[in-house]
Amino acid sequence: MKTMEWQNGGLILLDQTRLPLEIKYITCETAEDVAEAIKTMKVRGAPAIGVAAAYGLALGAFQNKCKDKETFISNIREISDLLGATRPTAVNLFWALHRMTDTLEKTDVDEVTKLQELLLREAHNIFTEDIEMNKSIGRYGSELVPPKAAVLTHCNAGALATAGFGTALGVIRAAHEAGKDVRVFADETRPLLQGARLTAWELMQDNIPVTLITDNMAGYLMKKGLIDLAVVGADRITANGDVANKIGTYTVAVLCREHNIPFYVAAPVSTIDLALASGDEIPIEEREAVEVTTIFGREVAPKGVKVLNPAFDVTPNHLVTAIITDRGVVRPPYVDNLRKIF
Ligand code: MRU
Repeated sequence: MKTMEWQNGGLILLDQTRLPLEIKYITCETAEDVAEAIKTMKVRGAPAIGVAAAYGLALGAFQNKCKDKETFISNIREISDLLGATRPTAVNLFWALHRMTDTLEKTDVDEVTKLQELLLREAHNIFTEDIEMNKSIGRYGSELVPPKAAVLTHCNAGALATAGFGTALGVIRAAHEAGKDVRVFADETRPLLQGARLTAWELMQDNIPVTLITDNMAGYLMKKGLIDLAVVGADRITANGDVANKIGTYTVAVLCREHNIPFYVAAPVSTIDLALASGDEIPIEEREAVEVTTIFGREVAPKGVKVLNPAFDVTPNHLVTAIITDRGVVRPPYVDNLRKIF
């Protein structure tokens, strides 16, 4: 199963809004197509959004018919703004776009066709490096998983949320591949059910034992001693170690603390935003009410009811046992130790 692939000058994306009922790929031929796919969450998950946006910018570069470098770069900046306006919370999006535009700023190449190729090459690099980073996260994280472990995860931080292998699910995958007896409890993750639709599906494809629970069951399971550790992904980690991730992650972290269960966050360095001092500064995406009032297009609430729909929350650093990155496991005090891996 591939989340995305560059094929014949287009970006093929697995449409995640249709999973697990349908396995359908869509083709993005323009930067606008990619922006739309990110906005509508056909592709989602912080690293995957970043990689898709890099390819989106490469597509924009090939659409760009101007002849001189200056106009080319200014057009690319506009396309970068378009892609950057899709989802505000995951910093990987801005990290990838910045890396792409930075490549243009730094090159001596003037010819537009060569600049287009340069951008495509950089997008391929971002794609390949993402998979390598996830495998590295898996290697470091696997060491934290006991030989027999029940692991709780929230949302989907798997292969589907990245270029491949996954971050939180990368840790689980690596532990499973190392022969550990890992069983996963997947929170369904309302409102969009990434846990039920994506995590459960992805783990079943790999024959990793998974049990689906609704979001309000985790505390009960912890109280009964059925969870050994929790591992989740992240959309943005600030300099002090605060973690933005899918709404409901904070609740899991609080429950872990109450039950003395390790709460791990797995993320590549592209998710760490040292420019922000704390989680209070992270923009939290608010999504449409219809995601809460319906399930798979079916109304489940009275018409006209008032709704709140923040897509992410922030877990304060004191609840995070460790952050598993591709450069090693970072422990508190995060304000000192996160900087050391850069
Ligand atoms: O709204 P989504 O589905 O894009 O949210 C995804 C998450 O919150 C993931 O946990 C996070 O992006 C990490 S993915 C490796």
